[in-house]
Amino acid sequence: MKVVAGFICAAIYGLISLPSSQNDELTKSISRGKQIYTENCITCHLGNGQGVKGTFPPLANADFLLKYPEKSIHAIKFGLQGAIQVNNETYKGAMPPSGLEDDEIADVMNYIRNAFGNKNSKLITIKAVADIKEKQ
Ligand code: HEC
Repeated sequence: MKVVAGFICAAIYGLISLPSSQNDELTKSISRGKQIYTENCITCHLGNGQGVKGTFPPLANADFLLKYPEKSIHAIKFGLQGAIQVNNETYKGAMPPSGLEDDEIADVMNYIRNAFGNKNSKLITIKAVADIKEKQ
């Protein structure tokens, strides 16, 4: 009987601890990402993620960032230029490659997807960033 109870306890513990450890990961990644954002992105996209209309696209509630995480990772990794549409506005600027490592890009992505009113509980992993190659 004791063995069974122990087993059930372990099973329940497993069930509740798994999602919360993923959450922990996300929380830690977001706080590292905030620092990276302040050092590398804030000059153009600004502290509130609103950017500058017509020049620097917003990250707050930005359909591009929220709909195309892979393209956003690609942009941060390799830079981005040419016309893009963000929230029905055309941007034809250039963003230089960030020069960040894959783990830093994962952190800054987790931050911008969960800052400025954005919310996304799916963790961007280092592997997901590593998998994005320059030529898709
Ligand atoms: C020198 C200014 C500059 C800096 C610094 C910069 N960006 Fe950008 N960013 C831009 C511009 C300009 C575009 C649009 C490029 C285009 O028109 O093709 C852009 C586009 C983007 C996009 C896709 C469009 C959107 O708004 O969803 C994301 C995501 C993004 N930047 C994130 C970042 C992150 C994260 C950093 C910091 C690691 C960063 N940027 C640093 C200027 C900058």
